[in-house]
Amino acid sequence: MKRLLPTLRADQTSESLVSVINTIQIAAKEISFRLHQGALAGVLGSSLDENIQGETQKKLDIVSNQLLKTLLLESPNVHAVASEEEDSIVESPNSGHYLVAFDPLDGSSNIDINGGVGTIFSILRKPEGEQTSENMFLQPGKAQIAAGYVLYGPSTMLVMTTGKAVRIYTLDQTVGEFLLTHEKAEIPRDTKEFAINMSNRRHWADPIQAYISDLLDGEEGPRGKNFNMRWNAAMVSDVHRVMSRGGLFTYPWDARKPEKPFKLRLLYEVAPMSMLVEKAGGKATDGYNRLMDIVPEHIHQRVPVIMGSANEVDMCMEYHKQHPKPY
Ligand code: AHG
Ligand code: MN
Ligand code: MN
Repeated sequence: MKRLLPTLRADQTSESLVSVINTIQIAAKEISFRLHQGALAGVLGSSLDENIQGETQKKLDIVSNQLLKTLLLESPNVHAVASEEEDSIVESPNSGHYLVAFDPLDGSSNIDINGGVGTIFSILRKPEGEQTSENMFLQPGKAQIAAGYVLYGPSTMLVMTTGKAVRIYTLDQTVGEFLLTHEKAEIPRDTKEFAINMSNRRHWADPIQAYISDLLDGEEGPRGKNFNMRWNAAMVSDVHRVMSRGGLFTYPWDARKPEKPFKLRLLYEVAPMSMLVEKAGGKATDGYNRLMDIVPEHIHQRVPVIMGSANEVDMCMEYHKQHPKPY
């Protein structure tokens, strides 16, 4: 079976980029080990710290962030990192050509229930001549050099692209290597499955209200077929299901907290997942525009998300054309 680094080199990936991806996979293996230790590792539960996003951090968020940050900043090829768990970007003493944005532990509310969690990463090129500042990271998703996620489930999987196919690797725990288990992920264009947090229904805007209502009406409704619903509460797990068998994943605008109408973060979650979904033949939109085209205004920006099977995403966009925009 093919190992991760040789498959990257076979694509003529530059050695500097191979080295950055290598650093990420080393951190991921360490995170995987600690997660699988579970309660034995003595790191479960909430810490008293609050991160920049105003949510209670779990201890493993801190550990995962520290691991990725420390290893990436030691890399000669990384210029700076941006993390969901850091207020500001962190500059490396090295003057590498790459910027790495990451969500060190996605779906962290699942830690305490031994549910699926993941790491999401996005690799950008440092803009030429740009002074070191947050502005370096304010590039649209389509500028990404590579993107991927690691799913720490029953098995640990690395799903990534350098702009070509989306490849899936599985961690062989016996030798400690990611081995290629799927050459080319392809998301079916049609689906009968969707993922949304239904408990927010009363807070959604008209386009999503109308779209989901028609899905729930099944065979008797305008769609003429029954849909199934899944929600893991970890974007990595939910998008991985879409990557594996199709589906539509959405976290739309909602009116719960007027100061926070969107949940998912553009830089750390949405841009990398959009690149993966598109490269696997799916679509990713905010309802109106391609998510990969959005130029971030600041590093912690949040956006509405609809992604997955191409025809179903198109269908959802139709509902957005027919109803007023909520924001
Ligand atoms: P994180 O754990 O990195 O803060 O991200 C959690 C995100 C995302 O992974 C998931 O899709 C969503 O939050 C779950 O939201 P609900 O709590 O509304 O289910
Ligand atoms: Mn997350
Ligand atoms: Mn997180």
